[in-house]
Amino acid sequence: MTALTRVVISSDHADIPLRRTIVAHVKAAGCEVTDIGPETGVSADYPKHGQAAAQLVAAGDCARGILICGTGQGIMMAANKVVRIRCGVCSDSFSARMIRAHNNSNMLSIGARVVGVGLALDIVDTFLSTEFEGGRHAVRVDMIEPHS
Ligand code: RB5
Repeated sequence: MTALTRVVISSDHADIPLRRTIVAHVKAAGCEVTDIGPETGVSADYPKHGQAAAQLVAAGDCARGILICGTGQGIMMAANKVVRIRCGVCSDSFSARMIRAHNNSNMLSIGARVVGVGLALDIVDTFLSTEFEGGRHAVRVDMIEPHS
């Protein structure tokens, strides 16, 4: 993570306060943040928010993306439908490190009803600070393509 890293952050209605906490935390770490909402806790469709964030990453407008829904699962599934997106759900920091180091994930998804705030922020820090190891992992990541 560098000071110039642009990160898109989005969620559904499951936990707007957690998203705002993550936005403030990532900004404080020196990243530029594009927060695409939603603004209120009114029921929101996680596929729309996940795919809107994924489009910004896939287009290169943002280097990384962070998603939040109740479990982290639905919004992750939606994001991964976008070509060039590799999004993993993490409920622990080890997984957050590995989806970067081995899978070159460009998006992270968090379940707001699964992890507490402190762990969520550690997962975010780990995801943003871990570099892809490349090498043999690059060959495998290249094999991850949409299949019919
Ligand atoms: C919303 O209630 C919930 O279904 C959503 O946040 C998410 O957990 C879906 O995967």
